[in-house]
Amino acid sequence: MSTYWEEEEADLDDARQDSLKQIEIDLLLEGIHRTHGFDFRHYLRSSLSRRISHRMNVEGLSTITALLEKVLHEPKFIDKLLNDFSIKVTEMYRDPGFFLAFRRDVVPFLKELPEIRIWHAGCATGEEVYSMAILLLEEGLLGKARIYATDMNENLIAFAKQGKFPLKRMQSFTKNYLQAGGTKEFSSYYTTDHEHAYFHPYLKENMMFAQHNLATDRSFNEFHIILCRNVLIYFDADLQNRVHDLFIDSLSASGFLCLGSMESLISAHKPQYEDFNAAERIFRKSE
Ligand SMILES: C[S@@+](CC[C@H](N)C(=O)[O-])C[C@H]1O[C@@H](n2cnc3c(N)ncnc32)[C@H](O)[C@@H]1O
Repeated sequence: MSTYWEEEEADLDDARQDSLKQIEIDLLLEGIHRTHGFDFRHYLRSSLSRRISHRMNVEGLSTITALLEKVLHEPKFIDKLLNDFSIKVTEMYRDPGFFLAFRRDVVPFLKELPEIRIWHAGCATGEEVYSMAILLLEEGLLGKARIYATDMNENLIAFAKQGKFPLKRMQSFTKNYLQAGGTKEFSSYYTTDHEHAYFHPYLKENMMFAQHNLATDRSFNEFHIILCRNVLIYFDADLQNRVHDLFIDSLSASGFLCLGSMESLISAHKPQYEDFNAAERIFRKSE
């Protein structure tokens, strides 16, 4: 049986280890930022820490400092970390209720505009972007839309540009499409081979893909709609605040901001928006 003093000693040791780990993470993130320009210093530590442990296991490394060594001295190593830090889980018509509300409540406003500029910030492999293009097509709006899709991860952008998704996912995408108010035969939008579905090129005509980092890059246009869904959830309050400033700068008067189902406006930015559909996380910039 351990004594009181032994338990105290063990607690102190845990605290020391944890503080060393935080120092090593700080140094790793600083090293990534200074050598490659990617700024993860304001991402939530819990999720970063899990991803760092995963990479250490895969590489057989026993310390975070050894990971930093690779970042500093192996130029290509950053690609692996970038992929680890990009949480790219996505699907077509994710949260179908959101797309249903968008179609029912936002589309009527878009019909009044001569041109529509939409920004998907943090588009991952593009499923959200193709979902939007199909919705706009069905509403007769695709021709006057310019859809800008960005992500910090260039590999994901390259993937998104193809409009090619695993065939095995199409069944659940079709189910989402129908729940999101889709009325056509979903399979009419793509062709298939034995492994993939390829979305028709006409859906891509007004899409523009580019690398853009919300933590470090500036506004690059003015948009009627910004979708940034399931991205801010990985940022701390300081970074969320800065990204909300970027969105305010990038939204036209009365523009719409669409967030993920577990995300919301932070208090400093609430007065700048009205709750257009709070349940589906659609906010409208106040005039
Ligand atoms: C979970 S996915 C969300 C995809 C899609 N928006 C959705 O809701 O299904 C998060 C994406 O955000 C991207 N991301 C993370 N940090 C970013 C940043 N600082 N700038 C731009 N994109 C970022 C990741 O690379 C990843 O592709």
